[in-house]
Amino acid sequence: MKGSRKLFVKSFGCQMNVYDSRRMADTLAPKGYVETAAIEDADLVILNTCHIREKAAEKVYSELGRVRLLKEAAAVHGRRLLIAVAGCGAQAEGEEIVRRAPAVDVVVGSQNYHRLADLVARAERGEKKVVDTEFPVEDKFDALHLPSLAATRSRGVTAFVTVQEGCDKFCTFCVVPYTRGAEASRPVGKIVAEVERLAEAGVREVTLIGQNVNAYHGAGPDGRPWSLAELLARVAQISGIERLRYTTSHPLDMHDDLIVAHRDLPQLMPQLHLPVQSGSDRILAAMNRRHTRADYLSVVSRLRRARPDLALTSDFIVGFPGETEDHFAATLGLVGEIGYAGAYSFKYSPRPGTPGAQLDDQVDEEVKADRLHRLQAAIDANQAAFNRRLIGRTLSVLFERPGRYGGQLVGRSPYLQPVQVTAPPALLGRIADVTITEVASNSMFGALAQGAARAQKTALLDAGA
Ligand code: 5AD
Ligand code: SF4
Repeated sequence: MKGSRKLFVKSFGCQMNVYDSRRMADTLAPKGYVETAAIEDADLVILNTCHIREKAAEKVYSELGRVRLLKEAAAVHGRRLLIAVAGCGAQAEGEEIVRRAPAVDVVVGSQNYHRLADLVARAERGEKKVVDTEFPVEDKFDALHLPSLAATRSRGVTAFVTVQEGCDKFCTFCVVPYTRGAEASRPVGKIVAEVERLAEAGVREVTLIGQNVNAYHGAGPDGRPWSLAELLARVAQISGIERLRYTTSHPLDMHDDLIVAHRDLPQLMPQLHLPVQSGSDRILAAMNRRHTRADYLSVVSRLRRARPDLALTSDFIVGFPGETEDHFAATLGLVGEIGYAGAYSFKYSPRPGTPGAQLDDQVDEEVKADRLHRLQAAIDANQAAFNRRLIGRTLSVLFERPGRYGGQLVGRSPYLQPVQVTAPPALLGRIADVTITEVASNSMFGALAQGAARAQKTALLDAGA
């Protein structure tokens, strides 16, 4: 395209940033920005940052060091490279970013990226240090257009859709209520329109995302606030959408209608990320999680009654202020009791402005490292046990991309594990039955099942092979 400029977006952190990065590219497309996978070709580099832990927050500065060198190299060739910092890091640090990294041209907060095209235009006109991190009065989603079919097609057969953003829970370790603001849900109609567009572009699996997704209460077409369970049921009716997931959920908002959806809604995959953070009631209270260990276990048992094979995953924090060896032992005990399909675990990182950072009884780094190590071993054992049970079972796999080796495709099982299978390219974007033959720590291997061989033939015929 004449006059087109190249855009490179790098996402850090969570899935919401992945989604936001796409929407940022969508807002810049009408201004002539075309995405490139090669950062050295870019006219505009956006770093979409994360602020959840100190390590994540610092990463952006080392990345900015590298991008600054590219900017200087471009200038030598008479080319101007603009640098924008977006996301939760931008929201939290604002002007501080341009002070620490003067090569940055634009800082745009996580609630303002619908204004990105204007901010970039100002920087293109020569304005220095364009910073916009105010929480806007208008709704950013209202200002965003649906992406083009072509852009959507190029992004594969699975997609995230933000349905809810922000959080009112104020866990004492967490920056999210400050970086993403108060909880807000998008209206059902807007979400349905977005998923219809995705389905039209070939998307088969949609994950509804939000920091507190099961607190969803967006306005339905009848004017009443709809629950997440009602939203899922509506999205499941969209032709072409074969699989649904949602993340991340809070145990307090796991209401009966959502639990029952795991039994009754066939498109809803048997997989749930339900962070618990700690197995100790004393620490849960200090974290302001507003539920006990027993409450969590009760939610899990109701879920498992509804869907016995549910693959549960979680997040854990070790070394929250005041955590003793006994409290930590309670966390290890909970992992043993639940039997997770996997989990993320983190050392507590005191975040500026959060109540946890002000507590005096901070835990030593070596103690945190030791507990993290032991917790990860327990989680790995859970995961290996979960995966082992699947050997010999036939699972439906949605093929997402070519595998590492020729003739292989990689897809996801209903439980979200990656599965590598020898299969023809015509099965990309399709669901086929796969018999699991072998499991490794982070992926599984399988062979197309007998019924799938028939599907394979049909796919080959459809593809004109
Ligand atoms: N330190 C360590 N981990 C954190 N998380 C959130 N805040 C912190 C923090 N200050 C973890 C929680 C959350 C996940 C997204 O990140 O486990 O569920
Ligand atoms: Fe952070 Fe707690 Fe809200 Fe999750 S529920 S985003 S951990 S404050």
